Amino acid sequence: MSTPLAQQEAGSSPSEAPSRAHVDEPAVPNSRLLIEAADVSVQYAVKRPAFWTLRRDTLHALRSVSVALRRGEVLGIVGESGSGKSTLGRVLAGIERPHGGSVRFAPHCHVQTIYQDASSALNPFMTVRASLLEGLKARRRSALTYRGAVLDNEQALLGCVGLDEELATRKPHALSGGQKQRVAIARALAAAPDALIADEPISALDVSIQAHIINLLGDISEHLGIAVAFIAHDLGVVRHLCERTIVLYLGQIVEEGPTADLFARPAHPYTRALIAAAPSVNQARPVSAPPTPDGTPPASLELPTPVGVPMGCAYRGRCPAADPQRCLRDAPELKAQDRGSPSVNPETVQAYRCHYTPGEQSERAARSSGVAS
Ligand SMILES: Nc1ncnc2c1ncn2[C@@H]1O[C@H](COP(=O)(O)OP(=O)(O)OP(=O)(O)O)[C@@H](O)[C@H]1O
Ligand SMILES: [Mg+2]
Repeated sequence: MSTPLAQQEAGSSPSEAPSRAHVDEPAVPNSRLLIEAADVSVQYAVKRPAFWTLRRDTLHALRSVSVALRRGEVLGIVGESGSGKSTLGRVLAGIERPHGGSVRFAPHCHVQTIYQDASSALNPFMTVRASLLEGLKARRRSALTYRGAVLDNEQALLGCVGLDEELATRKPHALSGGQKQRVAIARALAAAPDALIADEPISALDVSIQAHIINLLGDISEHLGIAVAFIAHDLGVVRHLCERTIVLYLGQIVEEGPTADLFARPAHPYTRALIAAAPSVNQARPVSAPPTPDGTPPASLELPTPVGVPMGCAYRGRCPAADPQRCLRDAPELKAQDRGSPSVNPETVQAYRCHYTPGEQSERAARSSGVAS
């Protein structure tokens, strides 16, 4: 049976600010689809100092990004700082209206968001109990059940995020950063959402509770069919938790696919650089990693700017395999990794944005490092 995606409000509390998503597409015949962003672009007008004046510029936070979030899946969204992860999260939550493209939601799709900064999600004048009750009031279907506990009351909600119920009478100022974050997660779960947009939800937590929250997110997705868009810097967690992953670079998807394939056989030089530079994925390698065996350097500390995005391939300035003419002239399309299969399933395909196959990239990188030495 087909389920049409339609325009929906994302919610009504501060963590799920209402807004109207941009909808202009026909129904999509796929019952697992919850949120579908097609060809989405987001731009901001910014001012930059130029000699004695300020120059107006356009910052391209997202450029033609297409993403589908399906019931019960955990989608990882990775990329370095400023690559557009949070912007994409806001678009998927319906909080930010894109300037181009469309976003569609399944009927009655209820989206909740969790942010790295939990303070912004909690009302400073409300006790934990009042915040959780507010979350419960936003619920539009039966409460979630986690490890035998029905999450329809404050004790069960606090318990599921590993907090003691004596915290219920406190206000946010009397909680630690990690406790606030867990209350914000409990509040989001109280509303029994269909989709959860989690923007770096565990960065403020200690390692032991991080593992607990990761298991919680994995369980609610697997057993309760809640879709989770998990935005993270920690590739080790993404590898563990997410079935599919998309890699953003300067507001564009440069690679996407099943997480296992993407980590086993990254097809874009930027994905390889991110993996090589991630200590939790590659424990043996220090953070300032030396070039990988195929000559790809780790992501440098110098971040590119999404203002005045360059012509051609946006990654060419950092890419060891770049061709000075072709990569300057032609912007590469996102193309499927060839597995020799004639039909390509969008849920399982690995796609990357490069003119060259991974084999050609390695040859080119080896040749250019040979020329350089
Ligand atoms: N309201 C805004 N006005 C102007 N620029 C913005 C605005 N919001 C985001 N940006 C810019 O858009 C780009 C993408 O921002 P975004 O917050 O999505 O990045 P991010 O990948 O989440 O980064 P981080 O990992 O640091 O959280 C950045 O260059 C950011 O400065
Ligand atoms: Mg962010």
